Amino acid sequence: MNILVINASPKGKRSNSYRLTKTFLEGMTEEEERSGGKAHVTELCVKDLEIGPCLGCFSCWKQTPGECCRKDDMERVLKLQLWADVTIWSFPLYYYSVPGPLKNLIDRQLPLVLPYMEEREDGVGCGSHPTRYDMTGKRTALISTCGFYSARNNYDSVCSMFDHICGKGTYETVFCGQGELFAVPELSSRTDAYLAHVRKAGREFLAGGIREETRRRLEELLFPKETFEAMADASWGIDRMTGQKEEESLTFTRQMAALYRKDAWDGKDRVLEIYYTDLDRTYQILLGKEGSRVCTDGSLSATTRIETTYTLWRKIAEGAVDGAQALAEHRYRVKGDFGLMTRWDDFFGGAGREEGADGEAASDGWGVPAGILEPDRKPVMSGFLIPWIVFWAVAPIRPTTGGMAGIAACALAPLLFVRHRRTIYDLISGIGVAGLSLVVLCGLPVRGAVCGSYLLFGLMWLLSCLGSIPLSASYSMYEYGGKTALRNPLFMSTNRILTAAWGVLYLFIGLWTFFLMEGGLGWMMGLTNIVAPALMGGFTAWFQRWYPARRAAGKGR
Ligand SMILES: Cc1cc2nc3c(=O)[nH]c(=O)nc-3n(C[C@H](O)[C@H](O)[C@H](O)COP(=O)(O)O)c2cc1C
Repeated sequence: MNILVINASPKGKRSNSYRLTKTFLEGMTEEEERSGGKAHVTELCVKDLEIGPCLGCFSCWKQTPGECCRKDDMERVLKLQLWADVTIWSFPLYYYSVPGPLKNLIDRQLPLVLPYMEEREDGVGCGSHPTRYDMTGKRTALISTCGFYSARNNYDSVCSMFDHICGKGTYETVFCGQGELFAVPELSSRTDAYLAHVRKAGREFLAGGIREETRRRLEELLFPKETFEAMADASWGIDRMTGQKEEESLTFTRQMAALYRKDAWDGKDRVLEIYYTDLDRTYQILLGKEGSRVCTDGSLSATTRIETTYTLWRKIAEGAVDGAQALAEHRYRVKGDFGLMTRWDDFFGGAGREEGADGEAASDGWGVPAGILEPDRKPVMSGFLIPWIVFWAVAPIRPTTGGMAGIAACALAPLLFVRHRRTIYDLISGIGVAGLSLVVLCGLPVRGAVCGSYLLFGLMWLLSCLGSIPLSASYSMYEYGGKTALRNPLFMSTNRILTAAWGVLYLFIGLWTFFLMEGGLGWMMGLTNIVAPALMGGFTAWFQRWYPARRAAGKGR
């Protein structure tokens, strides 16, 4: 398969449109190789070609049929067009049309057609010229980016022109708005996710045609209109009032602020203060109901303050450095309300949230955190707690009823897993409680079963600390961005400590329950075994806010 790429961006290979084209081409090549063929690709960069404008002399029709009188690079272009099975026209949208040099190249297509007048079968326009060469089976694709937020209605004149040149419905298009975002490394997680669909489109194009679902994904906006326009306005680095160039770090901070999602506002205005230690500059971002605003005079009262070098913050934004890891390593500090950091993805990450074309979640950066996979199938702690609680509440008082209630709870718990994901702890708990209930039902000593149940429960928590995901993290990660949280050292150490604390508590409860029952003080058990976990619950709520905030502020290394 011969493929010709005509790259008509004046930026050459730095072109946004060319990034899409290259990716589309990768998809085509993959598909060609998959079907046992080989793709021969020739790329032309219009800016490097010498192509003068058409002279309008019609000598390519009269004096030298099929041959232009101008001797420049167009001769080669025409030959390659005849050689190619697929021609990809890659260009930026300029004034709702193609860039001038490409229009020159298109005007110079005249030698490819014969002069005679012909009625068009597709009814486009009021006549056309028959082709001079057999073009049967040749295919065309147009790939382009434009600067406005959407490609919709922006390409009317381009499509109208190619309808006339190629015939309506005979060519494929990939048109993408917000094109300049492909040049912003901080947004690569979103643009890469888009490119994954472009690659898929390339595969499908070669296999027959771009599928409806892929086309729908390609037509989705990279970012919502409002977010994009705020980012685009900020990106010029020009002060709105004075029209003068502004400090780079301010432009960067404004772009970050533009990503704020006001629908994440929870009734509380926040002021994020960023102090770039290497530049000795401080900016404040007000995060409110109506959106975000950057303040440079320090007049706001900060609720969260980040102290970082500008270099580091840029790298984190680009996704080159893991922000959570850097925080755990004390490479930057966070003071004040740490809650903003734990909800960072909600505030700044979700504007362009989506998964890659193959279902993989996109990575970090400003744009798209690896989001919560299967958000409606999160596990719930009640899934494994209920059987234990039922057993502990009834078995010490009425062993037979307790045994039956324990088994009933284990039998009913799976109902929860219709809507919630089941974890290994749900499974262990189900088997454990069912086993202990049977022990009691078989008339074996209830004291041993109850104390053993607390010990087993405590051991489950403690042993999970030795694995890669401590028990509490298996559930709480869904409140902190899903699987992304597992890469956050602060989240993991907080959960490891808390899980160990719960494990130790239940080992103790197992021991004192034994002594209380042994000493005839079983009635006290009801009280102590409720109060102690309740106190631990309070401690957990406090610790999971206090500990990460303390570490983030650079204390307790
Ligand atoms: C001279 C000029 C005209 C442009 N006209 C339009 C336009 O009409 N509509 C639009 O959405 N973007 C327009 N843009 C923005 C470009 O299409 C956009 O920046 C595109 O992503 C550039 O692609 P490239 O990197 O492949 O050259 C224009 C840009 C320039 C420089």
